[in-house]
Amino acid sequence: MSESARTQFIPDRNWPDDKEVHINAHGGGILFHNGSYYWFGEHKIEGKAGNLAHVGVHVYSSKDLYNWKDEGIALKVSDDPTSDIAKESVIERPKVIYNPKTKKFVMWFHLELKGKGYDAARAAVAISDKPTGPYEYLRSFRLNAGHWPLNVTEADKVNQEELDKIKSKKFGGSPSSETMQAPILARDFQNGQMSRDMTLFVDEDGKAYHICASEENSTLHISELSEDFLSSSGKYVRIFPRRWNEAPAICKAHGKYWLISSDCTGWAPNAARSAVAESIWGPWKELGNPCEGINPHNKLGPELTYGGQSTYILPVNGKKNACIAIFDIWRPEDAITGGYVWLPISFEDDKIKIKWQDKWDLSVF
Ligand code: GAL
Repeated sequence: MSESARTQFIPDRNWPDDKEVHINAHGGGILFHNGSYYWFGEHKIEGKAGNLAHVGVHVYSSKDLYNWKDEGIALKVSDDPTSDIAKESVIERPKVIYNPKTKKFVMWFHLELKGKGYDAARAAVAISDKPTGPYEYLRSFRLNAGHWPLNVTEADKVNQEELDKIKSKKFGGSPSSETMQAPILARDFQNGQMSRDMTLFVDEDGKAYHICASEENSTLHISELSEDFLSSSGKYVRIFPRRWNEAPAICKAHGKYWLISSDCTGWAPNAARSAVAESIWGPWKELGNPCEGINPHNKLGPELTYGGQSTYILPVNGKKNACIAIFDIWRPEDAITGGYVWLPISFEDDKIKIKWQDKWDLSVF
């Protein structure tokens, strides 16, 4: 490590990698494997063009979480315009987990097909034998086709006549009274449920889960993954129906499951939310905005999540109940300049709290 090695987190400032280039791993997720952390994220390019995938998923490695080595592109977009992951598709919020049974590193991400806006709403999977890749793209799909969630109600299973009414209807991804009333879950029963903003979570018993904004972003779905982590097992729940949560991030601490999410306002920031549950399957209880304090660089506080949006909760290896909340500061006009806010989580009075710090280090845990 060089003399100038970093020893602190400095939220919402330039975060240089080992080549002194601002880290390019937005909407990221972090894997800890064999003593190293691997940070996967969306590689963005300059300008508005950077909101589409031109390069792929970037990966960095670190031993200490402060200093990151550029490990290159883990998953490359395809030059074949007919590929699901063609250049100018949308590849967002990549997350990687390791499957000890198959010995494969498994990447999931949110995929939108080139030129189709956010209509595809698919989950996509790629695998590799090494954490840094290269990852081989496998397939993309809607989740849980032909399965009702564990907590489905009879009222959710509407008849064909009701479904016909919304057959060719288009819904926006933000709160709307139309989406509120539409039987989206039943509409997507046969071909699979929508999956946009997503994360992965591996529990202490080795079971893995996919958590995503589904039903036109109106409802979060938590799905158990199959044993090989390459698909969903068909077991899932809906949580906070029609409450419009996205940007889900999840962790386990003090024996409970904690969720951070956001409202649905596209790249523009909004107020973060949090929730807790004794079981991953719920019931989940909403706890409100976990953020406190002001980001001095843009003067934004909890009402706009310091200008950011959640993407991941990172458990610190070797420390009990030590979790870092990770947010992106999106800059859609010049996507590559997007910033990162990493802040320690404190668990107080059965709540989750995230307090702004200009600088901090792991000794807080
Ligand atoms: C946000 C979402 C991002 C991205 C963006 C596109 O709401 O969290 O991951 O999809 O919308 O507008």
